Amino acid sequence: MFYEPKNKDHGLPRNPFNSLIIPRPIGWISSVDEAGVFNLAPYSFFNAVSYQPPTIMFSAGVGSASDGMKDSVRNIETTGEFVCNLATWETREQMNQSSVAVPPDCDEIALTGLTQLPSKLISAPRIAQAPVHLECRYLKSVDIPGWSKADDFRVIFGEVVGVHIDDELVTAEGLIDVVKMLAIGRLGYNDYTRVDSGSLFTMERPV
Ligand SMILES: Cc1cc2nc3c(=O)[nH]c(=O)nc-3n(C[C@H](O)[C@H](O)[C@H](O)COP(=O)(O)O)c2cc1C
Repeated sequence: MFYEPKNKDHGLPRNPFNSLIIPRPIGWISSVDEAGVFNLAPYSFFNAVSYQPPTIMFSAGVGSASDGMKDSVRNIETTGEFVCNLATWETREQMNQSSVAVPPDCDEIALTGLTQLPSKLISAPRIAQAPVHLECRYLKSVDIPGWSKADDFRVIFGEVVGVHIDDELVTAEGLIDVVKMLAIGRLGYNDYTRVDSGSLFTMERPV
């Protein structure tokens, strides 16, 4: 089959787009607003974009608050800081719960029964139950205009200034034990995947 997105002519009951770019890592973004209210939300339009300095991005659609912004975006643009927490099999339910649309003054870390930990370099909180935390300083936003206002997205870029890794995940050889980590990724519809011993394979790069 072939379709042109702008013609909306895929003819399928649901838009297949999200099922074609898989698996997507999940940036589980924690931030704090100017009044000190913590915020937590998952973003799967998320990735790393460079090494030196390590830089990550996530992309947010229109939010339900009166300013039309998602709380993560408002907090990050206001305070200049956020943490990207690694979502794992262990925390999958809380990750999903933290996507609930609640007013800006609702703390999703408390709401989901998770525990916040202070960061080392920034004021945004970390999630104690996540084995990896990337402390980030906000770099810039890029607006992606939608076909209508409701389809607008905004990409947030951040520089990773501090990295926390649970020591349990570092092998005797000094490698990250990704099988032990059990990271989860987003597929299309309501589907997810998990990195485990059955899904991992290794290939040498050609020289
Ligand atoms: C696994 C998962 C991935 C998501 N990815 C995105 C995304 O990439 N962009 C987005 O705008 N919303 C995404 N959402 C929805 C947001 O998490 C949701 O709108 C949330 O309420 C935003 O919270 P905030 O306003 O506190 O930032 C995702 C939800 C889930 C469960």
